[in-house]
Amino acid sequence: MPCVVKPLMSSSGKGQSVIKSEADIQKAWDYAQSGKRGDYTEVIAEAFVKFDSEITLLTVTQKNGNTLFCPPIGHRQERGDYQESWQPAEIKAEHLKEAQEMAAKVTAALTGSGIWGVEFFLAPDGVYFSELSPRPHDTGMVTLAGTQNFSEFELHARAVLGFPIPEITQQRVGASAVILADKEGVNPTYFGLEKAMNHTLSDLKIFGKPTTRPYRRMAVALTYDKVGSNVDAVKERAIAIAKEVSVHSN
Ligand SMILES: Nc1ncnc2c1ncn2[C@@H]1O[C@H](COP(=O)(O)OP(=O)(O)OP(=O)(O)O)[C@@H](O)[C@H]1O
Ligand SMILES: [Mg+2]
Repeated sequence: MPCVVKPLMSSSGKGQSVIKSEADIQKAWDYAQSGKRGDYTEVIAEAFVKFDSEITLLTVTQKNGNTLFCPPIGHRQERGDYQESWQPAEIKAEHLKEAQEMAAKVTAALTGSGIWGVEFFLAPDGVYFSELSPRPHDTGMVTLAGTQNFSEFELHARAVLGFPIPEITQQRVGASAVILADKEGVNPTYFGLEKAMNHTLSDLKIFGKPTTRPYRRMAVALTYDKVGSNVDAVKERAIAIAKEVSVHSN
């Protein structure tokens, strides 16, 4: 202790909790059972990692080609869901190499071709593999800001169809920031779009979800700039634009 308990299968941190003392054990089990997806009853119990930051390393496995890596994506999580992501993330060259080696090994063992969102923690004592998605990753929506020659969705489509991806190149630096709903409802409408769409070097995607609930991700603000620009400044712009939009529902 402390340790993290997770259902074997879930998403967005659902059913996940931290055991700090013995009194938390039963609660953690019950919470995992109520938040799980599928009918597995087992849970994962893993050490709590005191990391400084986390990254997603989008990794593409190909039918007839090399395994490729996208520039690392940094992200910040709250309540088990990402709030902002940015690309490229700051990481030491030797740590990136280590992460790439782990991602290549894990995805090769899983077999198949497509994009994987491989998550790592960057801690003072090195790089920890966390988990992976066998598909495009939510934090990878930053690639919709044109940060790469192909977005994560385009890469996935090519790889799944067995078409070649000769290389992945970084075209811009970018960031994404989420726009959340705050209550249960239907038929959401969006306010502040005029203002939010009036910024240069930015874009906005609305997901078209038919219903809302507290903290449900409804849209994302995207920002970008030339390669070499200050990524923190690009991230701050995405956060500011996301704040200009509010979601109302009935
Ligand atoms: N062992 C750990 N130590 C510290 N923090 C952790 C640990 N495991 C998970 N977390 C935190 O909780 C977040 C969500 O965990 P994880 O990625 O395993 O859940 P998930 O349900 O797959 O979520 P998502 O589908 O959103 O990726 C992590 O990004 C990290 O911030
Ligand atoms: Mg995760």
